[in-house]
Amino acid sequence: MILPTYPKQANISEDGSYLEKIGADLHLHVLPGIDDGSPSVEESLQILAAHHAAGIRRIIATPHIRSDFFPNDQHTIHAAWQLLTEAAADHWPDLVLTYAAEHFGDDYLMTLLEKGQVLPLFDRYVLVETSMRTEMPHFPQVLRAMIDHGWKPVLAHPERYRPWQQRPERYAELREMGIIFQVNLLSLGGQYGPTEKLLAQQMVRQGWIGAVGTDLHRANQYSYLRKAARTPEFAMLCDAPLLNHLVPEHEARN
Ligand SMILES: [Fe+2]
Repeated sequence: MILPTYPKQANISEDGSYLEKIGADLHLHVLPGIDDGSPSVEESLQILAAHHAAGIRRIIATPHIRSDFFPNDQHTIHAAWQLLTEAAADHWPDLVLTYAAEHFGDDYLMTLLEKGQVLPLFDRYVLVETSMRTEMPHFPQVLRAMIDHGWKPVLAHPERYRPWQQRPERYAELREMGIIFQVNLLSLGGQYGPTEKLLAQQMVRQGWIGAVGTDLHRANQYSYLRKAARTPEFAMLCDAPLLNHLVPEHEARN
């Protein structure tokens, strides 16, 4: 849970603590070997070091839980978290790492809701995603079921869902439901292309964004985070009342 000290003079980027103002990173794939994120403890440690150097002191790791591709559960996630925590021991004592999940919003999530096996970010906030490529017609019903179970859905990267990119009414519907939109800094930095970047910029400027995550998967993505941090939209996010600032310093479950 408590991770390493990183000597202040070591490997600080030119940008210094460029991510400090967003507070916690509540969306990234830093736990080793359990999804399409970091493949090894070594790369996970590189990510922790780079996050720390960028000014982040609070991380919620969010591996995918998706029954077809990433059949994780609390046990697989806890084991990976423990492995990383032990490897990182004594390096960054002021960095706190807990875990949650990025749930895929399908029938399997409905089952987890019924079983009480959802892994929230903290309190009642749950990170949820849908398909980037295919419209999932039942997704709004899944979100409704989450709300009915007392959860507060945090929609991962709304700017990345291709079927919605030409359908602004979809966003209006979700906002009406009270869904919190979480933008990816990698989108603002241009990692996924101009469409995602533009949509991310527009959502920030419209005041639609309630949470920020890096959604980092690998240690070679920091150039995009630095690009994001130089945008005017990033400055707007730093002044916004983000969910990131409500993340508890520590988390009881872990
Ligand atoms: Fe993600």
